[in-house]
Order: sequence, then C-alpha cells, then structure tokens
Amino acid sequence: MNRVIAAVLTAFVTVTALASALSAADAEAGKKVFNKCKSCHEIVDDSGNTIVKGGKTGPNLWNIVNRPMGSKEGFRYSKLMVVASEQGLMIDEANFGAYLSDPTGWVAEATGGSGKSKMLKQRVKDSDLPNLWAFLASASEASMPAAGDEEVTLQLKWVTQAQFAGYYVALDQGFYEEEGLSVTVLPGGPDIAPTQVLAGGGADITVEWMPAALAAREKGLPMVNIAQPFKSSGMMLTCWKDAGISSPADLKNRTLGVWFFGNEYPFLSWMSQLGIMTDGKSENGVEVLKQGFNVDPLLQRQADCISTMTYNEYWQVIDAGVSPDELVTFKYEDQGVATLEDGLYVLEDNLDDPAFVDRMTRFVRASMKGWKYAEQNPDEAALIVLDNDQTGAQTEVHQKRMMGEIAKLTAGSDGALDPADYERTVATLLAGGSDPVISAPPEGAWTHQITDAALQ
Ligand code: HEC
Repeated sequence: MNRVIAAVLTAFVTVTALASALSAADAEAGKKVFNKCKSCHEIVDDSGNTIVKGGKTGPNLWNIVNRPMGSKEGFRYSKLMVVASEQGLMIDEANFGAYLSDPTGWVAEATGGSGKSKMLKQRVKDSDLPNLWAFLASASEASMPAAGDEEVTLQLKWVTQAQFAGYYVALDQGFYEEEGLSVTVLPGGPDIAPTQVLAGGGADITVEWMPAALAAREKGLPMVNIAQPFKSSGMMLTCWKDAGISSPADLKNRTLGVWFFGNEYPFLSWMSQLGIMTDGKSENGVEVLKQGFNVDPLLQRQADCISTMTYNEYWQVIDAGVSPDELVTFKYEDQGVATLEDGLYVLEDNLDDPAFVDRMTRFVRASMKGWKYAEQNPDEAALIVLDNDQTGAQTEVHQKRMMGEIAKLTAGSDGALDPADYERTVATLLAGGSDPVISAPPEGAWTHQITDAALQ
C-alpha cells in the first residue's frame, strides 16, 4: 500500500514539477515578448514595487488578468475603454488576443461603443500570445522584480524612428535580455538635448553626432565615443534646381536652411572650407535660416536649400509632391566634409568603473546584434520601430523607406570607431576658420575599450 502511495506521489510530484516548469518556460518566453510593450506599459504592484520598468503612456499592467478593461485607477482611458469598463468587458485570455490585434475595432464591436482606442494595433504572433498571457499572470503574482537584470538607460538623439532601429530591435528580440540587461530607450525630440540629458545623469549613454559631442567636450562635458554603429553620414543639402544651383559655388548669395542645437557644425565647417561667410547674403556669403523640424522653408521657397537627411526630410520633400528631378542634392559624404553621425557616447568618469564598463560592453554587443539584424531584415525592423512609436505619428511606408536608407549608413560598421573617420571628422571641424566648431584637436574623445571587449 505504502509503495502504491509512494508511486502515486512520485508521479504526482513529477507531473506538477513538469507543469510548473512548462508554465515557467512560457512566462519566460512571454517576458521577451513583453519587451515591445514596455515603452508604454510598466508593471508596478499595489505597494509600488516595480516588477517591470516601463513607460506610462498606457496603463500599469499589474494584475490585469481576468479583470474588467479600463479599470486601472488614475489612468485616463479613451472614451471607448470607459464604455468597456462600464460594461465590465473582461481581459481574459481570449479577449486579450482579440484586443491586441485591433484595440479600436474589437472593443467597439464588443461594446457597441464608438471612438478610438488610445492603443494602436499590436503585432503579436499567435504562438506568442499564450506566453505573453502567462507572463502577465506570473508578473502579477510576483511581489519582487521578475529578474535581477541590470538597468541601462539610452537617450536617443531624436524621436522614435528607423534611425534608431538597432536599439529597438535589440529590445524586441531580447538581445539585451540575453546580456542580462533591462534597457530603457528614451526617445528624443525638439525639446531634448541628448548631451544635457547625459550631463544631468538622466541616461547612461546617448546617441549623438560627433560634432556636437566634441563641441560639448571642449566646453567641459567629457563625452567619450565608445562605439560607432553608423559608418557613413546621411546629411545633405537639398536645393531647388530651378534656383540655378548646380555646384557648391552656386550656394553664394542664397538663403540656406540649417538645423541648430549642435547640428549646425558640419554645415559651418563646409562653408568655411568653401570660403563662404555665414553672416548674410553677399557675393561671398549666405543667409543662414534657422530651420525648424519640417521642410516648409524649402516648399514655401523661404530658402533655396535646406538641410535634409537622406533617410528622412528628403523624403518629406518628395512626399509633398516634389519630383526628384526638381531637386539638387549635395551629400556631405561626397563633399568630403562628412562628420560622424549617430555614435554612442558616455561620460568619461564612468569608464573608471569596471561595473559600468561591463554593462556598456554587453549593451554595445547586443545593440550591434540589433543593428545587423535590422540591416538584414529591414522591413521587420521598420515594423518593430512602428510598434515602439508612442506617438503613432510614423507611417509604415516612411519607416520602411527610412530603414532602407539607414541600412546604407550602418553598413560596414561592426560598432568599432574607425580612427580614420574620427580624424576626418576632427579635420573637418577644425577647418572652421571664422567660426570653428572646436579650436584644438580633442584628446581622449573616443575609446576602443568597450568595442574590443564586446566584439572579441
Ligand atoms: C505605444 C504605446 C503602447 C504600446 C507599445 C502598447 N500599449 Fe497597451 N495600451 C496603450 C494605451 C495608451 C492603452 C489605453 C487604451 C485606451 O485607453 O484606449 C493601452 C491599453 C492596454 C490594455 C488594456 C489595459 C486596461 O487597463 O484596460 C492592455 C491589456 C494592453 N494595453 C496590453 C498591451 C500589450 C500586451 C502590449 C505589447 C504587446 C501593449 N499593450 C503595447 C499603449 C500601448
């Protein structure tokens, strides 16, 4: 008898062990899927313990399993979700999948309500849904953080777009997780200066252009380039052909749109190399128009030329109905004045800390894996970027096109800065005669310490 009980018990223990191992494996897989939700959703329990760090654009997803939709106190849901909450529409496993695939359509249909959901459609594979669900359930039971991952905060140079695909891919594909990192990506924007965020301790690492980083360094903010995922520059000047511009010499006596906040340095160097003054229209000078973040100055002919990136603003001009034949472009790369764009920068002092160096090594390794994945799977990368766009402003067409252009700029970089590119950048910047970007060759502005360790 005892032996029977023992056998039954053994069998029982084996089965439960198996079952819990299985559900643990599912939740673990679901945790990776949740990476694409983190930009908008955090998981914080009622006593304020953060289980998963994330954004606040969407409601805290702690304990949402089998609860009515739209019921997190303090979150301002869409009208549609308020209807769902009044009707007690449940977030159960079946509804969960349906909701994610069409937040507006499905809730409207289920409730008869109208309006627009504040969440866009989420692309989650059918096979991933049960895992994601298991993860949300397990995260709600956990009272402690789900993993002891080390945190890294990355500040982007600009808004969420394919320019930063490598980082979003690394997040989405779990490359950071594989390195034991929990990475928060902070989008930039017109009001955000990455160098200042870095200086203020708001981020461990930032994406910046080298001219701005070197200028900041000379002014006393010791930024160091630890990796250079972009090999080539995407900056160009885009001009109306009918203004009579065909070569750089024709730029004299014109109004040219230029971005500021540190992005003007490559332009100023170029003009200085051409011997063109930037203090107003004259036989040997140009009027510099401080360009905002749209292409209107060109379209409205307030400027003969404006600054554009090959992957972004140029296409905004084309999208406005202008034919490529009507335009003349000057790529900084072709003019020999290309300066390094999108590199990864940290504060020099932090590099004395072995733990920081170790985190950055893992971060760079995973980020480069993300970049190469994005290069090889541009359309998928563009969709991942779209998933992470909290503003919903980006479109699939534009992001896919952008990713195609970005892949040309990251091609040929394994992440390690090429000293020759650095030297050219410095030479270009030092050439700024009347208006130098930097006054002396910088020292210690880059290191291979991180990439040597990351890429070995
Ligand atoms: C770009 C931001 C964003 C992303 C990414 C995002 N969500 Fe949301 N989510 C929201 C917003 C905003 C709401 C509130 C919707 C409303 O009020 O209409 C929401 C609502 C929800 C709800 C309903 C919660 C409730 O309290 O009723 C669930 C469940 C949910 N999201 C799950 C997910 C999952 C899972 C993912 C990842 C696959 C995800 N979301 C990705 C923004 C986002």
